[in-house]
Amino acid sequence: MASVPPALPPSVLVVGAGGREHALVRALLASPAAPRVAAAPGNAGIAAEVPCFPVAVDDVPGLVALVRREGFAFVVVGPEVPLALGLADALRAAGIPVYGPGADGARLEASKIFTKEILLRHRIPTAAAAFFDAVEPALAYLRARPLPIVIKADGLAAGKGVVVATTADEAAAAVRGMLADGRFGAAGQRILIEDCLVGEETSILVVVAGRDYLILPTSQDHKRVGDGDTGPNTGGMGTYSPAEVVTPALLARIDAEIVGPSVAAIAAEGIDYRGTLFIGIMLTADGPRVIEYNARFGDPETQVVLPRVGNDVLALLWAASHGSLAGHRLIERPGHALCVVIAARGYPDAFPRGDAITLPETLPPGTGILHAGTARDAAGRLVTAGGRVLGVVAVAADLRAAADAAYATCARIGCASKYYRRDIGARQLQRG
Ligand code: AMP
Ligand code: GLY
Repeated sequence: MASVPPALPPSVLVVGAGGREHALVRALLASPAAPRVAAAPGNAGIAAEVPCFPVAVDDVPGLVALVRREGFAFVVVGPEVPLALGLADALRAAGIPVYGPGADGARLEASKIFTKEILLRHRIPTAAAAFFDAVEPALAYLRARPLPIVIKADGLAAGKGVVVATTADEAAAAVRGMLADGRFGAAGQRILIEDCLVGEETSILVVVAGRDYLILPTSQDHKRVGDGDTGPNTGGMGTYSPAEVVTPALLARIDAEIVGPSVAAIAAEGIDYRGTLFIGIMLTADGPRVIEYNARFGDPETQVVLPRVGNDVLALLWAASHGSLAGHRLIERPGHALCVVIAARGYPDAFPRGDAITLPETLPPGTGILHAGTARDAAGRLVTAGGRVLGVVAVAADLRAAADAAYATCARIGCASKYYRRDIGARQLQRG
């Protein structure tokens, strides 16, 4: 049931530990309502700005107990894992408003087969697909489909459960790896085989409040680890916003053919969705197609999208958590934002931890550093503690200036294992 949201909350807890959560913390701190902001578990950069509590994102009872003990009036959940584990349901059951869907809505990310069934049932544009839990029928289906072909583990696999196979051998190996050899464990016991979509990708983040929704500024991620979109897929190596490939006319089409129908379909499935619906879209020659839904803000999309939102983000998320966006319209700030992810060399495979980081004392105007995998060591030094370490974000009048400011700052960050792509935004910059 939608309700008129009460006065803005005096306090808010952000759940998560990445660059996305650092961006959320900063946006909430900027609210005119001046809420008390905290995070769990946070990271070294978040801890420099707000109190952090050492409760893991998958510790649902621990997080509920923390919220009660500290009296937080509102919770914003960053990552998918606690949502899939039912954190939002547990908080709502305890009477605590929360931005983020319940476990039913989080299934849109946690099960690719569940999502594909909804997309097909509601005729939302997406790639043709079939589902399998046994090797032989899957191999027979493969023989009947053209290459390249996409093989996906059904469940959550930290962004690694998707293989875009260009040869029949590669496709068969992916099928056997998931269904016979237990690669990805339970997440890969069922698989999808779907046709390969060709085009440019865009990330559409939508604030959803039941049947109400508001589309945030567009963005584009760079998922491959290497320059020129080479090497393995990662969680995301850099982003920019707006994605100008999504013209106003194309955004209107995406709204009419994908966003509106998706929000209506989710409600029709009986899901009272209150949180971000992140729609990964491929812009094919035949029109936009859904690649996937995520049940949360994107990382590192959020780092470039939120700086371009002129609304009070606390008021927007609070309203959504109460099931209505009445009176809220997007205020899109002009300008361009660009984020370069500084990773630890070796990511997304093995990478070192505990490497000392030195940050520049001053930053150019419009530039900021968001922390992801950082921590303090026993001596209090800032060190690397994850694959994606920092996000350097710059906002400027044009994308070239944003890229120049971000890259100038990347060069001034000291860290022996630092690695970053040199071509974030190149596609849009080359289009001119
Ligand atoms: P997902 O985990 O579904 O986001 O897939 C990860 C990445 O694999 C996507 O961002 C795409 O780059 C790629 N991908 C997924 N499905 C397809 C598809 N049907 N065609 C082409 N690329 C895909
Ligand atoms: N950057 C892609 C994601 O958040 O899934």
